[in-house]
Amino acid sequence: MVRPQGRAISGEHRRVALVTGAARGIGAATVLELADRGWSVLAVDIAGEDPALPYAMGSKRELVALAAEASSRVSRVGAVRPFVADVRDPAAMRAAVAEAIDAWGGLDAAIAAAGVIAGGVPLWDMPIEQERAVLDVCLGGVINTARAAIPALLARPEPRSGRFLAVASAAATKGLPQLAAYCAAKAGVAGLIRSLGAELGGTGVTANAVSPGSTDTEILAETARLYSLPDAGRFGGQQPVGRLLEPAEIAAVLAFLASPDSSAMTGATVAVDGGLAL
Ligand SMILES: NC(=O)c1ccc[n+]([C@@H]2O[C@H](COP(=O)([O-])OP(=O)(O)OC[C@H]3O[C@@H](n4cnc5c(N)ncnc54)[C@H](O)[C@@H]3O)[C@@H](O)[C@H]2O)c1
Repeated sequence: MVRPQGRAISGEHRRVALVTGAARGIGAATVLELADRGWSVLAVDIAGEDPALPYAMGSKRELVALAAEASSRVSRVGAVRPFVADVRDPAAMRAAVAEAIDAWGGLDAAIAAAGVIAGGVPLWDMPIEQERAVLDVCLGGVINTARAAIPALLARPEPRSGRFLAVASAAATKGLPQLAAYCAAKAGVAGLIRSLGAELGGTGVTANAVSPGSTDTEILAETARLYSLPDAGRFGGQQPVGRLLEPAEIAAVLAFLASPDSSAMTGATVAVDGGLAL
């Protein structure tokens, strides 16, 4: 799709977003999509290893390269800034929001995409530190992002169109064996979003989530490893579309939800899953 480069989408100011899990995968695709649509974006990632987990997180090199690529694609130096933070750290998330406000004068959307996966054994056999990592990143991290970002979304003058968004999962509604902590965390995200939607009523700020199906990223590669599959390809066959999804396909829906055009939606968790949940 060809888009006007660096076009501000609406309103009097260029919209500003904070995206977590931004170094790669769905988060990175979302940063690129928002930059293409004229947003300024703070790209947040742990950008380093998580000692509790046996697979690699996104790296500082990937995060910095993503920010540089996004900025150069829209010919706007500094359109996307990298920011290293662990979503489990509430102070770090407050600092991230402060950085976005310092850089661009406010915040219009926060997109909580950071997530990790672990399992491959029944819950009662799962190492406790892996269970904690999944719950604390996938659910606690979304809560920390909401706590830090929503006051900034509400600080915009009326009429507001602030957007708090989270990436849940098809796992929020399915009972996936050997992924109990991940399913619990993602179901928690859907519940959180319902409550935030109600709490934000009448403010112009909304809260929504997407539930991706199997999408071609490192989390899915790790899921294949947990299930002792040779690769993630066969997850595509479980989806009516008959293939894995691309991160950009999830990002396109997140970018719509981040825009003022999604004003009729709040508290919703939208399946973007190639039909997996059918
Ligand atoms: N890929 C799929 O099939 C799929 C399906 C459903 C939902 N999801 C969800 O999509 C989101 C994005 O995952 P992805 O598929 O792009 O995987 P990914 O592993 O490629 O990306 C996840 C990113 O989150 C970052 N991250 C991990 N822990 C963090 C922390 N504590 N603080 C800050 N950043 C942290 C990682 O460094 C990485 O860059 C996750 O919430 C995941 O649960 C993915």
